[in-house]
Amino acid sequence: MKFFIDTANLSQIKEAQDLGVLDGVTTNPSLMAKEGIVGQENVLKHYVDICNIVTGDVSAEVIATDYKGIIAEGEMLAALHKQIVVKVPMIKEGIKAIKYFSSKGIRTNCTLVFSAGQAILAAKAGATYLSPFIGRIDDMNQDGMELIKQIVLIYKNYGYKTQVLAASIRSSMHIVKCAEAGADVATCPLSAILDLLKHPLTDIGLAKFLADHKKSEEKALVK
Ligand code: E4P
Repeated sequence: MKFFIDTANLSQIKEAQDLGVLDGVTTNPSLMAKEGIVGQENVLKHYVDICNIVTGDVSAEVIATDYKGIIAEGEMLAALHKQIVVKVPMIKEGIKAIKYFSSKGIRTNCTLVFSAGQAILAAKAGATYLSPFIGRIDDMNQDGMELIKQIVLIYKNYGYKTQVLAASIRSSMHIVKCAEAGADVATCPLSAILDLLKHPLTDIGLAKFLADHKKSEEKALVK
């Protein structure tokens, strides 16, 4: 499973990249706004800055919601850098645009996906990635992970090439469950990636190894 980081924060992206396990980045207009990136020029520059930190795919979301607008914005984003993947919302105009981008060899990430039916449409349109939002489904007292399992099965049944990019991940447990379900990618906050490191028995075990090593070194010095 590939790991993407779900942020527009450059220092978090650098930290994840330095860990050596990062495969890409996803952003959205809310994440860009959170970093105070405003104005088209700054937004475009920020995407290039992200591409210069990581080696993998970087999702950049269109703001337009009409077909012509999505195409124009998507082509501009794709021309920015070879790592850019155009993120398109799951709406009628978006599906038409994904089909167009797919015919032009422009890679896409179909976002705001909350049902298997939407997943089928996006795959048929030729989306490169599909982003089902686990956490936001959980927030509605439904099981977001069930949707990931359902989509993975449907894509397997028909050999769809669209990659399942599990999004709206809130915890390290979500990441593990996505891997069990066979998601192609998990896009996560840095905290969820770092939480994968944690286990109390690792800390206890390491403390004991180091203490034993120190004791034997001290004994050797006395001899
Ligand atoms: C996915 O690409 C979205 O950017 C993101 O995962 C949404 O997460 P949220 O529900 O935590 O806002």
